[in-house]
Amino acid sequence: MSDSIGRGADPDRIYHGLEGVLAGASAICDVEETNGGLFYRGYRIEDLAERASFEEVAYLLLMGKLPNRKELSAFSEELARSRPLPEAARRFLKTVSPTANPMDFLRTAVSFLGLDDPDRESNAHSENLRKAIRLIAQIPSLLAAFRSAPGEPPPSDPSLSHAANLLYLLTGRRPDPFSAKVMEVSLILYAEHEFNASTFAARVTASSLSDMHSAVTSAIGSLKGPLHGGANEAVMKMLLEIGGIENAERYIGKRLARKERIMGFGHRVLKQGDVRSKIIKKYAEELGERKKDRKWFDLSSRIEEKMRREKELYPNLDFYSASAYYLLGLPIEFDTPLFVCSRISGWSAHVMEQHDHNRLIRPRCFYTGPKDLPYLPIEHRS
Ligand code: SDX
Repeated sequence: MSDSIGRGADPDRIYHGLEGVLAGASAICDVEETNGGLFYRGYRIEDLAERASFEEVAYLLLMGKLPNRKELSAFSEELARSRPLPEAARRFLKTVSPTANPMDFLRTAVSFLGLDDPDRESNAHSENLRKAIRLIAQIPSLLAAFRSAPGEPPPSDPSLSHAANLLYLLTGRRPDPFSAKVMEVSLILYAEHEFNASTFAARVTASSLSDMHSAVTSAIGSLKGPLHGGANEAVMKMLLEIGGIENAERYIGKRLARKERIMGFGHRVLKQGDVRSKIIKKYAEELGERKKDRKWFDLSSRIEEKMRREKELYPNLDFYSASAYYLLGLPIEFDTPLFVCSRISGWSAHVMEQHDHNRLIRPRCFYTGPKDLPYLPIEHRS
């Protein structure tokens, strides 16, 4: 056995992609691999999605308990008060190209907010909590400002819920109650999911005692990838490319034959299906009924049948979210940024938990390169 874990170590000890590795402990979220169950701080996702508001869920994730009426009202008021962007951020916005990728914009803008954050010098719990509330409030404002640039977005409407206001900011129309409910359910479903890649990126960053904004910037960078958050945008682009249900079988069959990944299917942990997908699927179907446009839902269902039949793969949360967002009138390129508007609540909770009980995250790797090579002066190198 060599003096390091590398050479001589058992390569079977490598867990590629950390698959199946318990990389830490957390009290925030429980993902049940076998039956796809999901709990935020012990509450079943089905109950939260059907009965809670996003504000209640964000409070639950950050504080560890559901708010009473007085706590919820104070939290919601603080969110509404925190929505206006700092003047420096508004100046920064004028320098951003309107053709920039919205996820690149958000990654940069969140990092920019960190420059002047009033609590930037501290990772203490109460300071981190204030940063979290500001980020939950301001990320939708950033997105709305980016969408409206060089014009001004509509001002946030304090009479609307967080979800309804987000929809209003991005579409310019106050949503009907059912559309607001679909947005609310989507934000709750996307809010948290244990040690997914972007959350783990946030925790790795926070574990060096770097700050909340740096950790969230890391997370946004990770979420952008099509294997993670970028999938929902890719799903809608695929549905539009397929065009109609009559093309579904052939299109999917060809792509599977080429060993290509079908976005919105599969999951590293949930191999028997994703309970969140079942919930958003129900809303996507009713939205199609209400908008008298079932086309995208029916096409999605046909694809789901084929993927289950031929690959035993199940839709993840991104698959039916795509057509739901499309029918809500949201621009496709904002699908992943909407994921950020929700997951910022989970990321913040994890950063706070990491800072409150920190240990530097630093795994080992199996070394596969050469060793003990003789150093040749440059004149002797070929
Ligand atoms: C999210 O972790 C989280 O919790 C994430 C998330 C969250 O809330 O944070 O749930 C959000 O990111 C959901 C996932 C969104 N990504 C996609 O929809 C992209 C498409 N999905 C895949 O690329 C894939 O399913 C992953 C990346 C999500 C998971 O892949 P794994 O666990 O690494 O599985 P794998 O690549 O080892 O695949 C196993 C087999 C392979 O077949 P073989 O090569 O062995 O024959 O399944 C096949 C894969 O080819 N496969 C797919 C597929 N996903 C897996 N084949 C076609 N289409 C797919 N989507």
